Amino acid sequence: MKQDKIILTGDRPTGRLHIGHYVGSLRRRVELQNSGLFDKIFIFEADGQALTDNIENPEKVRQNVIEVALDYLACGIDPTKSTIFIQSQIPELCELTFYFMDLVTVSRLQRNPTVKTEIQMRNFETSIPVGFFTYPISQAADITAFKATTVPVGEDQEPMLEQAREIVRRFNYIYGETLVEPNILLPENAACLRLPGTDGKAKMSKSLGNCIYLSDSADEVEKKVKSMYTDPNHIKVSDPGCIEGNTVFTYLDAFSRQEHFERYWPEYANLDELKAHYQRGGLGDMKVKKFLAAIMQEELTPIRERRKEFEKDIASVCEILRKGCEVARETAAQTLSEVRKAMKIDYFADSSFVDEQVKRFQNKEV
Ligand code: TRP
Repeated sequence: MKQDKIILTGDRPTGRLHIGHYVGSLRRRVELQNSGLFDKIFIFEADGQALTDNIENPEKVRQNVIEVALDYLACGIDPTKSTIFIQSQIPELCELTFYFMDLVTVSRLQRNPTVKTEIQMRNFETSIPVGFFTYPISQAADITAFKATTVPVGEDQEPMLEQAREIVRRFNYIYGETLVEPNILLPENAACLRLPGTDGKAKMSKSLGNCIYLSDSADEVEKKVKSMYTDPNHIKVSDPGCIEGNTVFTYLDAFSRQEHFERYWPEYANLDELKAHYQRGGLGDMKVKKFLAAIMQEELTPIRERRKEFEKDIASVCEILRKGCEVARETAAQTLSEVRKAMKIDYFADSSFVDEQVKRFQNKEV
């Protein structure tokens, strides 16, 4: 039987999505959705995972479930082509996590580099919640319950995918071919792998205040671009400038296309020429920032406008999520029935368990 090509990916609903999410994964999801190359596409909000480090903040997660859904729809995730759903509404995911827990050791989890850095970042030290520690297992359940073949995510999710693949291999080895090994799909462009914050810091994060959100107004985008970190030694226009670690150029790597030069800055044929001039000296930061701002507005304006339209009808957005949860649940339930059968815990799915046990006790010497 030909294997279906299935995409699954998602985000924690802990805040509105920003352009790091966009170039890292969201833009790609929309392209893949519209490519027609996939049989099924699942995009979900990992609210259960968000709660693993927001235990005392359920209201934040609740509000952001709608914010993130709006960001999805605004970017072009189309509910007639993709199923959008919420993790906590699929109890089968908890069940699968519970079975997977037997297939992973504590030391294997401790070695997961993403979990390691996250634990440090959150100052959990010795009081790590068990749910947080084990979220890679639950993430493996998210992926495998839908038999996903392709998971488009950022680089930081690589250890999660590796863990999921190991779990699938171990499950199938013990219980027979049941689950599908997922493949990670990373952004092709290095600048998109990890878009820095507007302050040049390695990661865009809400707590650092260095994000450009998909829902930011045109004015906010303009202001944020104009105050972006560049080369601190590029003081006079005539000074030679450095493009490495220069956020404006990293963003141009992530966002600019040939046509943008024709449209906004025909003095340069392409990004390489622009970079060369900056490096030689004689090109001021403000000019480059103006160009970047024009490109960003071109990309973000349609997203912002679509978001405004969806915001006018929140009840419909909720209905999209509700329906998505229903569809997702059916798919996960189907996988779980296969999992229970493989694990020999499908006692009452048909009469075979009863028949077999009756026979076993009939043949017993009394
Ligand atoms: N850990 C992901 C993030 O922080 C969210 C996520 C949860 C996810 N389960 C997933 C992503 C399954 C892809 C597949 O962004």
